[in-house]
Amino acid sequence: MSEKVTVGLLGLGVVGSGVIKLIENHQQKLAHQLNCNVRVKRVLVRNLEKSRDVDIEEDLLTTNPDDVLNDPEIDVVVEVMGGIDEAKDYILKAFASNKHVVSANKDLVALHGPELQDAATRNKCDFFYEASVAGGIPILRGIVDGLASDRIGQVMGIVNGTTNYILTQMDSEGVSYENALIEAQKLGFAEADPTSDVEGLDAARKMAILGRLAFSTPVDLDDVEVSGIKGIELEDLQYGDKLGYTMKLIGYANFDNHELEINVQPTLLAKTHPLASVKNEFNAVYVYGEAVGETMFYGPGAGSLPTATAIVSDVVSVIKNMRLGVSGNQFVEPHFKKELKAPDKRYAQYYVRLYAKDEAGVFSNISALFHDQDISFKRILQTPVNKDEVAEIIFITHQTSLQNFQHALEKLKGLDAVLEVKSYYKVEGDAIS
Ligand code: HSE
Repeated sequence: MSEKVTVGLLGLGVVGSGVIKLIENHQQKLAHQLNCNVRVKRVLVRNLEKSRDVDIEEDLLTTNPDDVLNDPEIDVVVEVMGGIDEAKDYILKAFASNKHVVSANKDLVALHGPELQDAATRNKCDFFYEASVAGGIPILRGIVDGLASDRIGQVMGIVNGTTNYILTQMDSEGVSYENALIEAQKLGFAEADPTSDVEGLDAARKMAILGRLAFSTPVDLDDVEVSGIKGIELEDLQYGDKLGYTMKLIGYANFDNHELEINVQPTLLAKTHPLASVKNEFNAVYVYGEAVGETMFYGPGAGSLPTATAIVSDVVSVIKNMRLGVSGNQFVEPHFKKELKAPDKRYAQYYVRLYAKDEAGVFSNISALFHDQDISFKRILQTPVNKDEVAEIIFITHQTSLQNFQHALEKLKGLDAVLEVKSYYKVEGDAIS
């Protein structure tokens, strides 16, 4: 083993700068653990002139990817440039030159992870991507190593900080979705174009990666059903609160009898659930294992240094494997063939809010309609609306299949007395209110 291991970086944005700082600041600890120094030799950037948030010798910077990918001294390539096609091309070239790769790129790993993993294994290289899910939280290692002995049945995650910040502000400050989003943008928690966060796509990518590793089945991004938080109304958070629930954007994955259910959707979560206490921009992943029971991994889901800890820890693992001569051996083919769970086997509770005519018999019609689908109500609220003879009705069902709930909802929309179904959400857990 040489006295130093040499790293090449693709990208020097917020996360790349964090990697440089962390390697520099923690050099002693790294050297102690690895018995060698870790040195960054080249960094691919788009613009050599740009001012940066990190001290770096100018001659380390290059705009030519070959300076990183074809340098025989570079052992490990760290991809923090983002995007899909170019990043994928560079990573494949790195494997072809027998370089190990550490990536933070969730979009790429969610879309092409298995193909990249395959290329890594063929070239006896390591490919690690801890930073792609929940930034600084070591959740992938938690699942793959920490829970290697268990059978995981359920993973639930608050894996998007932007939406968690918006929902927390709506809940605690009573502000609308639109105003909470503007505030999040001002504070830098939300991007100028927040589409991929607020529409749930960012969380879906992370859930696809989590699902693959937790259940050892080949989850595709398209398998993840997604609905985001755009346009969520404050009223639903307030009624949820009255009933003992808090609104969260939950990534949910369940594997039972070798059948997979995986989705991202706004969910009214019982305040007693461990994930309900995760506020603002923080992330957390709740994992239920058959033997271990409930576990939860909590921490920062983004940010320069937190994300850099995941990346540099991956670099440490790469170096340990190099030393042991076991690089490229970690990948295990998915154990189970993918079977998506049909709607008649997907069980949940649901919250519904609607406007109805405030007249005799309306409630019994609604309840008969749900009874026909074998759905019973757990909680009911009715409040008068500031319009003549209109009532707002809120109810939470007991567990029902998605199929029966969808049938009931269709019929509900067709009832004469129902003026508008305002909203409906999945409910998770049992509230005490
Ligand atoms: N945009 C992500 C979030 C951070 O809001 O959590 C990076 O994954």
